[in-house]
Amino acid sequence: MSKTYYIETLGCAMNVRDSEHMIAELTLKEGYEEARSPEEADLILINTCSVREKPVHKLFSEIGQFAKRKKEGAKIGVCGCTASHLGEEIIRRAPYVDFVLGARNVSKITDVLHRPKAVEVDIDYDESTYAFGEFRTSLYKAYINISIGCDKQCSFCIVPHTRGEEISIPADLILQEARKAARSGAKEIFLLGQNVNNYGRRFSSEHPKMDFTDLLKAVSEIEEVERIRFTSPHPLHMDDAFLEEFARNPKICKSMHMPLQSGSSRILKAMKRGYTKEWFLDRAARLRETVPGVSISTDIIVAFPGESDEDFEETMEVVERVRFEQIFSFKYSPRPMTPAAEYEKQVPDEVGSQRLARLQGRHNEMLDEMKSDRLGRVYEVYFEELRPGGLVAGRTDNNWLVQAEGSEELLGRTVPVKIVETSRLGSRGVVVA
Ligand code: SAH
Ligand code: F3S
Repeated sequence: MSKTYYIETLGCAMNVRDSEHMIAELTLKEGYEEARSPEEADLILINTCSVREKPVHKLFSEIGQFAKRKKEGAKIGVCGCTASHLGEEIIRRAPYVDFVLGARNVSKITDVLHRPKAVEVDIDYDESTYAFGEFRTSLYKAYINISIGCDKQCSFCIVPHTRGEEISIPADLILQEARKAARSGAKEIFLLGQNVNNYGRRFSSEHPKMDFTDLLKAVSEIEEVERIRFTSPHPLHMDDAFLEEFARNPKICKSMHMPLQSGSSRILKAMKRGYTKEWFLDRAARLRETVPGVSISTDIIVAFPGESDEDFEETMEVVERVRFEQIFSFKYSPRPMTPAAEYEKQVPDEVGSQRLARLQGRHNEMLDEMKSDRLGRVYEVYFEELRPGGLVAGRTDNNWLVQAEGSEELLGRTVPVKIVETSRLGSRGVVVA
């Protein structure tokens, strides 16, 4: 009987891809199969996120739960950003953890598996040319890493300390992976990195000059690729050439993530984001001008140290002006090793909660207005997932979630769908072809 794994993945899309990479290593090299539950598994992996404090706090009670539920002799491994950040401390605080594997060391999974109490958390380790085997959670969408690490030093962010310096993955490896995925039916390619439009800044070996715009062009030249998405770009690197390619290239999906973080230039400076409110508004306006119907999503942090009521009003003003389709909003969370955690004038928690509630409340109102515009219209939807109740789910080009009645035969196909019902969580549609 083969051994089985159970994996829990928290955090961002890069963690999702890291989990896929670990599964590929485990299945191809060690013959593992997926377990139906943690109780049955021979190996339990928790792929962690450390961007905010709360999930880190919860981690230890979660490990405790798994330790109780696991079967005799099963191993527990803690991976990802919290593994990088806490290292050995995890085993000290939770002695039933068998190994700790950092976010930049996932290729070593089959090695740590056999070394009791192994801790591999080197953030200088270069995995940019490691040839991971094939494993994809979805048959219809392929996540592909284009870089590892992040060179920005946003003053609130722990990621550069858990994922290390930025290294771009050689373009031929990316293109080879995209070709293979698209030929096997994943017509949507999702390019991943902490700062994707900084692609080409540094390779670990000699590489022809290439930036993100060139890479997008090259991926779109693969015939079988129908859709290209990417996350996360940085507003600072949204130059005209990039926006023009985004607008012009029909394979690039017309939804853009523009992480604002704050609408106050003063706070942006303290965050070390490298752009101002005006630059952000200019880029968003340019995008709306050149790409009719584009949807823009964002990340916003409220109550960054020193954020005054006036600063917060500036964030609200940008929200009014840009009309984001989706906002991932967070209360500032002080993180170890980050300069902002040492700043004076930390904002009281209640003030943060009030600001967050106001931002989310206003955004929901705006969303209701935007959603009603969609009713009765027809959009091209790429279906990628079966849902209970005889439904299939997919996304429009500009990233709205749509569900419709249907079955497997719609999966992996792009078809016209008329929207008959909308809610904040997504839309219901009817296939019209
Ligand atoms: N480059 C990545 C950033 C990863 S962190 C990206 O753009 O997706 C994802 C988001 O978490 C950030 O954009 C930011 O809005 C939020 N975040 C990061 N550090 C935070 C902190 N200390 N407190 C609150 N939110 C934070
Ligand atoms: Fe974090 Fe800023 Fe990089 S938010 S991941 S340091 S771009």
